[in-house]
Amino acid sequence: MTDTQPSSLRLGVNIDHVATLRNARGGAHPDPVSAALLAQSAGADGITIHLREDRRHIKDYDAISIKEAIAIPLNFEMAATLEMVDFALSLLPNACCIVPEKREEVTTEGGLAVAGNEEKLRPLFTAIKTAGIRLSLFIEASEREIRAAAEVGADIIELHTGTYCDATTDEARLAELQRIQKGATLAHSLGIEVHAGHGLDFETVGPIAAIPEMQELNIGHFLMGAALFTGLEEAIETMRVKMHHARTPGS
Ligand code: PXP
Repeated sequence: MTDTQPSSLRLGVNIDHVATLRNARGGAHPDPVSAALLAQSAGADGITIHLREDRRHIKDYDAISIKEAIAIPLNFEMAATLEMVDFALSLLPNACCIVPEKREEVTTEGGLAVAGNEEKLRPLFTAIKTAGIRLSLFIEASEREIRAAAEVGADIIELHTGTYCDATTDEARLAELQRIQKGATLAHSLGIEVHAGHGLDFETVGPIAAIPEMQELNIGHFLMGAALFTGLEEAIETMRVKMHHARTPGS
């Protein structure tokens, strides 16, 4: 990618909530593997799953079956623990996206604190990278965190878009968008691939998709909700169209 030419923008579809729904009743329906294959055929560029420490949605066997079934890259979200690193080393996903995790939270709140924790995190990160898995860090778009991510050898940062999506005023949303834009530019200049995600929907995706350095968006909850009304394929296709229009104005 040159500085004047935006790279293509990939869509990673997070299918955790298919497992949430399945687990509400037990049994096998709806099947996350079928959802991953449907997302793939609808044009997803990757599948994202989060194996939480409490296994509240995706289970270990889901991760293994999904990895075996899909032909597109698997982005494996996980906490920075030895247990998760061991699992990732046996799963061998395309990327491990390291997220902060608290048991009591409903979803991932805030970004990973890399700055100040480099020495604690480094052995886990080294194990991931040595296995040939791309290291992605889910962080806030702060200069301190981005520089820390570069320092620990992140291949990718995923910028947290939660504050941007949850903003209740135009001013607050614009301020957060500008922070994300600035963060993307800094990360790109440091040689890090830039992704973003959390809370994105048909309305909020455009300005994030328009950031030239952005290479991948990971979207789950909104797509799964939209799929209840339109089906997953249409939800993914509509999201892709919105991303494409934001990326190529006038298209
Ligand atoms: N990226 C990361 C790192 C996440 O933790 C999540 C939520 O699991 C997402 C993207 C997707 O967020 P949402 O489900 O709100 O689209």
